[in-house]
Amino acid sequence: MSPIAIVSAMHEELSAVLALMPDETMQTVAGRDFYAGHLHGQEVVAVLSRIGKVAAATTATVLIERFQVERVLFTGVAGGLAPGVKVGDVVVADSFVQHDLDASPIFPRYEVPLYGMSRFPTSATLSDKLAEAARRALPGATLHRGLVASGDRFVASAAESRVLQAALPDALAVEMEGAAFAQVCHDYGVAFAAVRTVSDRADDEAHGDFLRFIEEVASRHSAAIVEAFLRG
Ligand code: ADE
Repeated sequence: MSPIAIVSAMHEELSAVLALMPDETMQTVAGRDFYAGHLHGQEVVAVLSRIGKVAAATTATVLIERFQVERVLFTGVAGGLAPGVKVGDVVVADSFVQHDLDASPIFPRYEVPLYGMSRFPTSATLSDKLAEAARRALPGATLHRGLVASGDRFVASAAESRVLQAALPDALAVEMEGAAFAQVCHDYGVAFAAVRTVSDRADDEAHGDFLRFIEEVASRHSAAIVEAFLRG
């Protein structure tokens, strides 16, 4: 079986996962360090994508072309958008949209030009398994499943959050990488799933809440979910 990729954007989101991989070898490609090794007996490649959609697309392409991964798992944090999505909740994405993509009037708003698609689904099989793992790893947390919006903006005001909610009323959360991973994985026919712990409400307090969560909680939650997923 080909290795499974475990990806986060930032070191704080993946450090506890890397600490669990005793036999990893590191290879640097396109300025990123790819750690190949084993976790719970499964072959994995762990990497930090860095932040934003372009960084995510580069990372996804290298994982698929160089490391021959056929499954990609993204774990990290997101800002809660929908009213019931609170700090500490867990969101497993069923699909992704780029909230900052707008080639109208040539193409409908949000549609990725020449794909005829505005929403890119994740793998249902992998996402079901990931949701089950999240339930086992964080039994006290509320789990949501649905649409996640990605864009090259840290959403840090209630006003901007309201605009996003009005434009994409079914979006549960906002982050900066998932839609790019979903599109590249779609291009290559590679299975993709993503889990995000909610670090902030994408409102006027988002900046402080995000930094606190990243420092204190994110890595532990990511590692617990990844471990539960790989243990199966
Ligand atoms: N990731 C975590 N919180 C976020 C926010 N408020 N905006 C964009 N990405 C995020």
